[in-house]
Amino acid sequence: MRHLRLGVNIDHVATVRNARGSSYPDPVRAAECAIAAGADGITAHLREDRRHIRDADMLALKARLTKPLNFEMAATDEMLKIALAIKPHAVCLVPEKRTEVTTEGGLDVIGGHNHLQPCIARLRDAGIRVSLFIDPEPAQLDMARALGAPVVELHTGAYAEHLDDPDQLRRLITAAAHAQKLGLECHAGHGLTVANVGPISAIAELVELNIGHALIADAIFMGLPAAIHAMRAAMDAGMRA
Ligand code: PXP
Repeated sequence: MRHLRLGVNIDHVATVRNARGSSYPDPVRAAECAIAAGADGITAHLREDRRHIRDADMLALKARLTKPLNFEMAATDEMLKIALAIKPHAVCLVPEKRTEVTTEGGLDVIGGHNHLQPCIARLRDAGIRVSLFIDPEPAQLDMARALGAPVVELHTGAYAEHLDDPDQLRRLITAAAHAQKLGLECHAGHGLTVANVGPISAIAELVELNIGHALIADAIFMGLPAAIHAMRAAMDAGMRA
């Protein structure tokens, strides 16, 4: 069986911390706990409004983690400067709107290619692996390839919200195959849970899933290590099915 990497997004540990203006729960401690429980990497999103992860969290994650750090960010000058200073293993470029509750859709790499190209080039030149968070559409993948990004992350939000619509899974299956044909490493994430991760794990071209909200939610009831073990078991079951 192939190894499907699990990247654990720890943003919501910071959300809880910030709700009380306290120093706990510490997202770096959560990241270390996730790695001890089998996470293959840690994802954290530094948003423009710093609503959860803060600059100091990113610095501490980079300094202390023993597994790759995936820095999610908007392609802005401010974020580019921070990423180039921190030098994470990877950057995932995402769209960002101040008013959204979470990342609502994929990055429009077709509409934004002029703006994205220099950002991708600067990150690549610094030795940072760039991924683009996009909707599972072949034309977006073609442009991601043209822009020189080695990795794409397929947005699974529509799949997670419309589990009764088989077209959503089909779009992801088709997009993952297309990504492989283009030579792009293919990841996926958003809205994945123990209950819905199986069919996504079964997509052979996927090498990494990034999961946050459901893991932190499950951790409230069972603890973070058990939540990660349960997610890993659901991924393994999906790959065997
Ligand atoms: N991947 C990307 C690019 C994201 O923006 C998010 C949400 O921050 C996730 C994965 C994880 O989504 P969720 O928290 O719904 O598991």
